[in-house]
Parts: sequence; C-alpha cells; structure tokens
Amino acid sequence: MSRREWWHDKTAYQIYPKSFFDSDGNGIGDLKGITDKLDYLKDLGIDIIWISPCYPSPLADQGYDISDYYDIDPRFGTLEDMDELIAEARRRGISILLDLVVNHCSDEHEWFRKACEEPDGRYGKYFYIEDRDPSGKLPCNWRSYFGGSVWEPLPGHPDKLYLHMFHKKQPDLNWENPEVREEVYRIIQWWMNRGIAGFRIDAIMNIRKALPFADYPATRNDGLCDASETLETVEDIGDFLDEMRDRVFIPNNALTIGEVFHDKYEDLEDFIGDNGYFSSMFDFSHVVKGQSLLGWYDRRQITTEEYKRCVIEAQRFISDKGFYSNVIENHDRPRAASYYLPPEGRNETGKKCLALAYFMLRGLPFIYQGQEIGMENTLFDSPDDFDDISTLDEYQVAVDAGLSEKEAMEVAALYSRDNARLPMQWADSRNAGFTSGDPWISVNPDYTYINVCEQEKRADSLLNFYRQLTALRKDPDYRETIVWGEFIPVYEDQEGLLAYHRKGDRDLLILANLKSQTQTVHIDTEHRVLLNNMEDIRRNNSDLVLEGWQGVILELVRSDQQI
Ligand code: GLC
Repeated sequence: MSRREWWHDKTAYQIYPKSFFDSDGNGIGDLKGITDKLDYLKDLGIDIIWISPCYPSPLADQGYDISDYYDIDPRFGTLEDMDELIAEARRRGISILLDLVVNHCSDEHEWFRKACEEPDGRYGKYFYIEDRDPSGKLPCNWRSYFGGSVWEPLPGHPDKLYLHMFHKKQPDLNWENPEVREEVYRIIQWWMNRGIAGFRIDAIMNIRKALPFADYPATRNDGLCDASETLETVEDIGDFLDEMRDRVFIPNNALTIGEVFHDKYEDLEDFIGDNGYFSSMFDFSHVVKGQSLLGWYDRRQITTEEYKRCVIEAQRFISDKGFYSNVIENHDRPRAASYYLPPEGRNETGKKCLALAYFMLRGLPFIYQGQEIGMENTLFDSPDDFDDISTLDEYQVAVDAGLSEKEAMEVAALYSRDNARLPMQWADSRNAGFTSGDPWISVNPDYTYINVCEQEKRADSLLNFYRQLTALRKDPDYRETIVWGEFIPVYEDQEGLLAYHRKGDRDLLILANLKSQTQTVHIDTEHRVLLNNMEDIRRNNSDLVLEGWQGVILELVRSDQQI
C-alpha cells in the first residue's frame, strides 16, 4: 500500500507557455500571460500546473533545448515574472512544476561551446565525444528520435563526433561523469529554493546509454536502429535515479513526475513505489500502443477498445502500489478528440465521455491546455505548414517509404505535435484572443466556435463538465473513494465499454460507452446518478441503455450487493 501524499487528491494542468496566453502582443505566450489566467485555472479546479520549458533556448525543439538552466527566455519574460507567478499561484493554493530537461542541453549552452573549444578539457567530458574513425564507420548505428544518425561532427573538430539522441542541437549530457550529475542537482536545488513544488522530468530513461557503443540490428533500411531499442539493454539506470532522489528530491520534498516510457510492469515499484525514483509517472501504455519502429506512416491509430484494455491493464498492475499520472493529451500528441473520437462522436458528448473515462481512474489526472474546451487537430495543407522537427522528419520518412505526398501529409497531419501546440482558444475574437499581435503559429480556424468564452456562458459546456469532474474529486463525500479507492474493472468483455468501480467508503460505478452504438448494462443495485454527459439515461427494467458516447458516474447505494 503506497503512502498517502499531499498531491494525491489534486488535479494537474499542463501549460505549453509559447501558446497559452500572450500578455504583451509579441505573438508568443509568456509567464505574465499564465499569471493573468490563474483565476481561470483556479475556477477549473486546478491545483498543480506543469509548465513546459521556459528557459533560454534557441527553440530548435521548442524549449526542450536549454541554453541556460538558471534563467527565463526573454520571449517568455524574466525571473521576476516567474517569482511573481509562483507567488500568485501559491496565493491561490496552486503549486508549480517546471520541466527538468537534463538528458541533453542545447548546443548553444556554454558547456557545449566550451566542449567545442577544448574537447579534451573539463567540458568535453560533459558530453559523449568520440574520435572519428578514418574509415567513416560511426561509433554505433543508432538513429536519433528526430531522424538520422545520433552522431554529428563536433563543430570545429572534423576528427570528432558528439552524440545526440534527439536533434543535433540537443547534445546528450554524460551522466556517467559525476560532475554532470552535480550540475543537475545544483539546478534542481536552485529552482526548489525559488519556491516551485517539483518537476516533470523529461526523457529520463535516456540518461544512461548502452555502453560501450555498439551496433544493434537495423530497424529500417537506412541501416540504423531506433534509439529506443538501445534503452532495453540498459540495466543500471536505477543507480543514477536513486542518487538524484536521495540527493535532491527527498530533501526538498519535491513532487516529481517522470516521463517514463517503460513497459516492464515488474519493476514499476522501483519507479513509483513508496521509495520509488519519482513520485509518479505518466501511464503511457495507450500512447505506445500502435506505434511502429518504421515510423508514423506505419503506426496504427488505436481503437477505444484498445485504449480501454491498456488502461485496465496498467491500473491493475499499479493497483495501490503507486500512483500513476493519467493523461489523454500532452504537447507531444495529437488532440484526444481527433485521435480517439470518430467523426460522428467528435462532439461535446464524445469529449465528455473521454474526459469522464480517464479522469475517474486511480491516479493524478492531468488536463492539457485546451483539452478542457475540446480543442481538435487542425488542417495542414503542405509540409511548409509544420513547425515541429519530428513532424518534418516523419513526413520525409513516409515519402521515402513510398507514400504519395498526399498520403504522407495525411499521416503527418494526424500525428503532428503541432496540433497540440497551436494557440489556446480563449474567445471568438481575432487570433482566438490569444494575442493582440501576430501569433507565432497559426490559430486553428475552429476557434470561432470552440473557445473558452463561449463555454463559460453555457451551463452544459465541456468546460463546465470538467469543472464538475474536478469538483467531484474534491467533494468531501467522494474524495476518499475517488482518490484512494480501489479500481475494479467490470464488463471487461463488453466491446467498447469502459466500466469500473471505484470502491472506498463509497461505491462508484463509472460507465463509458466508447463507441457510437448503444450498449446495455444490466444493473440491479439501487443507485443514483452523480454525473451524466447526456440529459437523461434510458432504462429498460434493470437495464441501463447507454447511448453512443454516453458516460455516467453512478453511486451504488447498497455496496454489499454485487452487480
Ligand atoms: C520529451 C518531450 C518532447 C521533447 C523530447 C526531447 O519527450 O516531451 O517534447 O521533444 O523530450 O527533449
């Protein structure tokens, strides 16, 4: 049984600062913009905000390439703006998590510049720098996550190469070097001292490499192997993670949420058990489902039945041994409404059903900006419309694999990370009320009808439905059950129906019909409806007839009686 923690009964919200709210009209969202919207977030029932990177950066990977860990990018504001944001959030009972991106830094970071000046000096040892083999053979055949080899000539030193698991502007830091780890702990301590509650921890499974560098079986006909494949053989990552937890996370009582892609349920407790490396990690079981080593063009869009099976399996494994963070969207994913809902279900009813389905799982729910109003994928006409480096790479991979340009565009548009990175839609006024200037990336044209302002005014809006969900989580009558109660799936074989009990001092039954056809559920226990995404619920004697995309939360009144 995992310990109870202060953050368990909270609701979290992810902000992608570049696209949240622009307070000064330069077309880029900023920290003051976040402060301006704290009351909106408070009203939504948010207690914890994770802010994607806002440190100085050339923005090659939109801030996940940091050139100074101890400052704020001037485009986003100043350190004083951050202090003000932390203080204003605290006044409202909201905690701030920053993004800890320390698998790599930017090639414009001082460490890397010094490494280029003197590869054999102190800073050369902060990175993985290898001599180039005169035959041209690379130290290993790994493919970076954003395409091409992980090896790149070291600027100014044609005889040397450096390693980058992500983009070439993101050189990997060498965690084997204790000095690098000390630098990381200094960064963490410095930010904790400024009053944040902790971190979301980026790409953390990459910090330990499979050494010595060696070739792996190629996964595509470029002769390279997927970087992620190499992680499978790394066994002792726990040494680094233990050290980081003991040195800085525990002493600061930090809340840490790992971006962990790891499907070995056996060692889940090492990660998020009572003495785990992190407080929590995202359940990405449904995110990896359907992925292909060949690239996005070969990826399979998963069905809602598969989504259901993934979350049930993950919830079963974790049970009460730890606390997952549950998501259906983030800045690396398409919009959930576009990904999970078929065209006929892509409306507020369907969006509410998805919301209810994942929000009531055991764990810490995260809402990604705009999810609460049901923002959708946008339309891209040509590859020139893409900003994201991984979308541009995947488009090319698809074309190289023989897809027509039109087909490659469809694939890239469906999965593009840009979908989630478009400006937040605050109103139906110019630029969706995001900026008074020219937005850095175009606004989704659907802002005229999908926006906060419209949904504020309408009692039955998705936004208000999310408010009901966060309020229910906080309700003293239900909190114990929703936060710490058991997760017990039922009717598992009923295709497209995600049904589970949350059992604590109350017994709740969550029913989400994740398909367009009606489904019947037999229920002979007395119950009352706590939340329903439709006006009514159809009954046929003891049967509930759920309409397509109907989702309900029932409270079973006689909990001793099995259904
Ligand atoms: C994580 C981030 C992603 C970024 C990558 C490299 O996966 O979520 O946005 O591109 O790490 O830092």
